[in-house]
Amino acid sequence: MSRLLERSATLPPPIARQAPETPLALTHVTAHPRLRRSRWPARLDLLQSASGLFLALFLVAHMFFVSSILISQDAFYTVARFFEGAYFLATPQPWIVSCVVGGVLAVFVLHAWLALRKFPASFRQYQAFAEHRARLRHDDTGLWWLQLWTGFALFFLASIHLYGMLVHPELIGPYESADRVWTGSMWPLYLLLLFAAEIHGGIGLYRLALKWGWLPGGNPDAARRRLRRLKTAFSLFFIGLGLVSLLAYVRLGIAHAERAGERYAPSGDGTPATLAEGAAVTPVVVPSRRGG
Ligand code: HEM
Repeated sequence: MSRLLERSATLPPPIARQAPETPLALTHVTAHPRLRRSRWPARLDLLQSASGLFLALFLVAHMFFVSSILISQDAFYTVARFFEGAYFLATPQPWIVSCVVGGVLAVFVLHAWLALRKFPASFRQYQAFAEHRARLRHDDTGLWWLQLWTGFALFFLASIHLYGMLVHPELIGPYESADRVWTGSMWPLYLLLLFAAEIHGGIGLYRLALKWGWLPGGNPDAARRRLRRLKTAFSLFFIGLGLVSLLAYVRLGIAHAERAGERYAPSGDGTPATLAEGAAVTPVVVPSRRGG
């Protein structure tokens, strides 16, 4: 009984005991220590913005690295070995790539966990939002909805890709990647991932700019319109670059399908000695014909 009394003493006063002229919400916020305004929602929002910005910038850099296959197979090979430390260590170390993937994966999981707070949590919430959206017909509310669903798709699509990169960092290279894309049937996943990631990233950056007030110029309406155009250009550019690169991997994968599993050997021109040594240590079947 005394426990019960102690507990009731920590609860907010019953509504009947409040002065009728005091607004209810205000009484609760100011009167009870447990209900005092917390800074955590703001902190979590900041963390979500920061992790989203990091992932978007990472994605931009990643798309340029991956599209180096469009320059040449040796160019992509050089980029892949660079991230294994081949240019400053005695031999390439694929575990360095695993560490980078681990870091990106950690930020990705954190970002997804923070985003869960914003998902409709029950059918009623879902229905309320859908009705609200249909009634408002507000462009940015529609964008938020699109970002929610592309984010949901990324939970699955990006996790599969990241896991592959984490456990097989040594299998990144012109033949290795092309074999994974074509013979390993990863291209449908990459196609979906490309659209989901670039649409999600474009909307995310647009919303970040609005939320934190990074609006160019003095007129907010004109700035918003300009930002919208930038967002669309961002998504279209990276979807285009991704599609062309993916096509290059598919074509190389088809050409290399009969020798799938064979490792790529660089042509030798301008390749650092450490890479040539690394290539010599790995048993490599030198192909008779090189695609692309
Ligand atoms: C450190 C982490 C990552 C590494 C090392 C990495 C590496 C690669 C590599 C080497 C490829 C070429 C295909 C292959 O080898 O399988 C590729 C393709 C791709 N990656 Fe990643 N990736 C990483 C993270 C991500 C993330 C977080 C996303 C998106 C959320 C992403 C989206 C894609 C897409 C869409 C493609 C297909 C590219 C295209 O269309 O040409 N990657 N990635």
